[in-house]
Amino acid sequence: MDDLEPLRALGARFPATFAWGVASSAFQIEGAATADGKGPSIWDEFCRRPGAIADGTDGTIACDHYHRLESDLDLIAALGIRAYRFSIAWPRIQPAGSAAINPGGLDFYNRLVDGLLERGIEPYLTLYHWDLPAALQHEHNGWADRRTAYRFADYAGLVAERLGDRVKSFTTHNEPWVTATLGHEMGIFAPGLKDRRIAMQASHHCLLSHGLAAQAIRSARSGLQLGIVLNLSPVYAASDSPEDQLQARLDDGFLLRWYMDPLLRGKYPQDVIEHLGADAPKVRADDAALIAQPLDFLGVNYYYPITAVAGTPFNPTRPGVPVTDMGWEVAPERLTDLLLRIDRDYELPPLMITENGAAFRDQVVDGGVQDEDRRLYIETHLEAIAAAIEQGVDVRGYFVWSLLDNFEWASGYSKRFGIYYVDYATQVRILKRSGQWYRSFVAATAAGCQAAAVADTCPTAGH
Ligand code: FCB
Repeated sequence: MDDLEPLRALGARFPATFAWGVASSAFQIEGAATADGKGPSIWDEFCRRPGAIADGTDGTIACDHYHRLESDLDLIAALGIRAYRFSIAWPRIQPAGSAAINPGGLDFYNRLVDGLLERGIEPYLTLYHWDLPAALQHEHNGWADRRTAYRFADYAGLVAERLGDRVKSFTTHNEPWVTATLGHEMGIFAPGLKDRRIAMQASHHCLLSHGLAAQAIRSARSGLQLGIVLNLSPVYAASDSPEDQLQARLDDGFLLRWYMDPLLRGKYPQDVIEHLGADAPKVRADDAALIAQPLDFLGVNYYYPITAVAGTPFNPTRPGVPVTDMGWEVAPERLTDLLLRIDRDYELPPLMITENGAAFRDQVVDGGVQDEDRRLYIETHLEAIAAAIEQGVDVRGYFVWSLLDNFEWASGYSKRFGIYYVDYATQVRILKRSGQWYRSFVAATAAGCQAAAVADTCPTAGH
C-alpha cells in the first residue's frame, strides 16, 4: 500500500462526476471597495459602526483579490480542482442597486469567469452573499421592503444575460437565515437591526426574491443550473426536558424548516408561524407559488450541529466537546445525520456541499502552516458525506470554505478559514498543510480512478 492509497480509497467512495472545489465570497476577499465605479454596500457601512467588527477592521483591502485576480486564479488552479464557488458584489454591477450595468464592475467578473475557464475550472456563481447595495437600504430599508426582491430579480436577470453564456451554475442567495436573523434580529451582521418582526419580513422577501430571480434567470437564458444555498445544522435537544425539547423544535423550525418548507413544499411551517404570532411576515397570496420554483440543486453549508438549550437559541456547542476557533463543535458524523434527515423528509434536488471548513489558530513556522486540525476536519467531513452517499443521498459536489484566509464578517481578520494562509501585511499567500492534503486527495482520486478505470466511480476522462 502506498501513501496515496487511503486518499484513493476515500475518493473512490464519491460518484463519477463529483465536483471538487473551493469557495469564497466577494466582500470577504476582493477589497477594492470603491474601484471602477463600485457603490458602497451595507457591509462597507456596517464596518464603520464602532464595535461592530471584533478587531475594528473592514473590507476595504481584504485579500486585495480584485487586484490580484490572475495570480489568485493560478492558486486555485494549483490545487488541481475543477470547481470554484465565488459571489458577485451586487454594488459592482449596479452601484445603487438598480438601473444599467456598471461596465467596470462587470469587466472584473468577465475576467474572473474567463480566467477560470481558461484554467479548466467550472465557475459556480452566487448572486447574493450579503453585500446589498447601501442605496437600497437607505431608500427603502433593504430586505425589509418588498421592492428589494424585485430589484434583486432585475439584477439576477442582468447577470444571467451577461455571464450565463459561460457560467452554468447560478445560486441566488447564500444563507438567507444569516441575512434575516443575524442581520435584522440579532443585529450582529449588516444592516445591524434588532427586530424580529422585520427579520421575518426580510426572510420572506429573500425567499420571494429567490423565486423572482429564478424566473428572471430562466427567462434570460435556458440550460442553466439554478439553486439556493442554506446553512443547515442538525439540532439535538440538550436533555429530555420539555423546555429543551421545545427549543430544539424551534431551532430546527427557524433554521431549517422555515427555508426548506417554502422552497420544497410551498408553505411555511405552521408551528413556527404560530410561535411568531404578530411577528409572522406579511405574505401575499401568490408568494408561496413564486418561492417554490423548481431547483436544479440545493447547496448545503455545514459547519456544526446545534445543541438546543432552553433560552439559548442556536447554541453551537456541548460541554466537553472539541470546538474550532469560532467556538463551533466539531461533529462530522452529524453531517451524515443531517443529509439523511433532509433526504428522508423532503423531495430533494441533487445536493452540493457548498461550504464546509474550520477556523483554527494557524502559525507560520519555517514558512509553512501545519494545520493538522483543519486537514482532519476536512477529511472526516468527506468521510461523513461519503457515508451519506452510500446510504442513497444524491450529493454532487464539495467546496472547502475557504480558498484564502479572509474577512470573517463580525470577527474581522481574527479568524482564519483558508487553505491558503494570507499574510495581510504583505498579501503573501502560503498553501497550508490542509491545502496540500486536499490537492493530493483530488489528484489521487483522479489518478486512482484512471488506474482502476472504474467507469461509475471515477470522473470521466477530461472532466
Ligand atoms: C458562512 C458564510 C461564509 C463564512 C463561513 C465561515 O456562514 O457563508 O461567508 O463566513 O460561514
